[in-house]
Amino acid sequence: MFKPDILNKFKNIPTPFYYYDVEVLKQTLDLLKKESDKYGYIVHYATKANSNNKILDIIRSYGLGADCVSGNEIKKAIECKFNPNHIVFAGVGKSDEEINIALDHSIFCFNCESLQEMEVINELAKAKGTTARIALRINPNVNANTHKYITTGLEENKFGINLWELDNVITTLKELKNLKLIGLHFHIGSQITDIGSFKTLCIRVNEIQSWFVSHKITIENINVGGGWGVDYHEPDKNRFLDFASYFKLYNDFLELRPGQKVHFELGRAVVAQCGTLISRVLYIKKGVNTNFAILDAGMTELMRPALYQAYHKIENLSKSDVGSPKSEVLKYDVVGPICESSDCFGKAVNLPETFRGDIIALRTAGAYGEVMSSAYNLRDRVKSFYSDDI
Ligand code: LLP
Repeated sequence: MFKPDILNKFKNIPTPFYYYDVEVLKQTLDLLKKESDKYGYIVHYATKANSNNKILDIIRSYGLGADCVSGNEIKKAIECKFNPNHIVFAGVGKSDEEINIALDHSIFCFNCESLQEMEVINELAKAKGTTARIALRINPNVNANTHKYITTGLEENKFGINLWELDNVITTLKELKNLKLIGLHFHIGSQITDIGSFKTLCIRVNEIQSWFVSHKITIENINVGGGWGVDYHEPDKNRFLDFASYFKLYNDFLELRPGQKVHFELGRAVVAQCGTLISRVLYIKKGVNTNFAILDAGMTELMRPALYQAYHKIENLSKSDVGSPKSEVLKYDVVGPICESSDCFGKAVNLPETFRGDIIALRTAGAYGEVMSSAYNLRDRVKSFYSDDI
């Protein structure tokens, strides 16, 4: 993915930093738009995956909406000129202040996750003399077959309204005069690579829709969430997802009533492959059974390996002769400088012989990388650079 002269550019930038390939992002968006437009689907970008202004600007310019999970994400989306009427607001714990921000901007829809939340939104909307549009986030009890920390659609998870609560919710909703039910919302988890899970979701949504029809409740919008996973192992071979198959699956299996609109909330699928964390090797140290390559980036810049045992492909960009007969391949535990043993990007990673000062790329880091960075150990906040700026 990197152009031959990239190393010369990287050499002049203090590490660690995030590097975003704008072309990769735009090509991804081109594909996404082309395939979702075929069916008139509406895609809201999950801003939690990456909320850099430049990334948001580009995504908005393709006509996507924004899926926000905090008051600050709503403010950011509006600052980046997303149309409030294309903003949805999810989250299991929306504060009164955040609800008021959303009401003040008259966003498209609140995805409500509990009965009590509905009552609070109703109260706050009433105080403002307005009506809030809501969708019920229903926990469909579908297994997403992904890491347990990012599974959200099972009854044991904290998210959404359980199916057995629906009768009660519908009865209460009739009393809540400042809410308008406009949709159903589902989201079963993240980094889902088994596309069959989405088929299962469609079938469950069809059953749930029938329940609403039998209760004579009309639903205008079906929001099926996001969660589609990317290939962390082969980021060059599978740089672009098969958006055609993904959207076709929904077209094939989701049963829609006349006039219904389908919404998606994709995050990772949009931004993961355009971002790379660039770091330098500070030290090489001999261990008992391994060598350590100690980087100047750590879990403070990219937390996913420490938190989810996530894999990110590691490449030594200073060794362009990788794979040639003269390059010796050795095994390294690639670690960061943070005072935690979990601060490890990969164990027994095959790399060409690596030295202090070599530039290391941690690939597929555009989603849930920079946004989850922290200042632990009083580290400087990580910076970002874009392919069209350097
Ligand atoms: N909609 C809702 C309601 C969500 O909770 C999420 C993600 C999305 C959409 C977007 O999901 P995506 O298409 O990006 O998978 N930090 C974790 C991922 C957490 C995802 C949280 N919710 C990671 O690094 O893997």
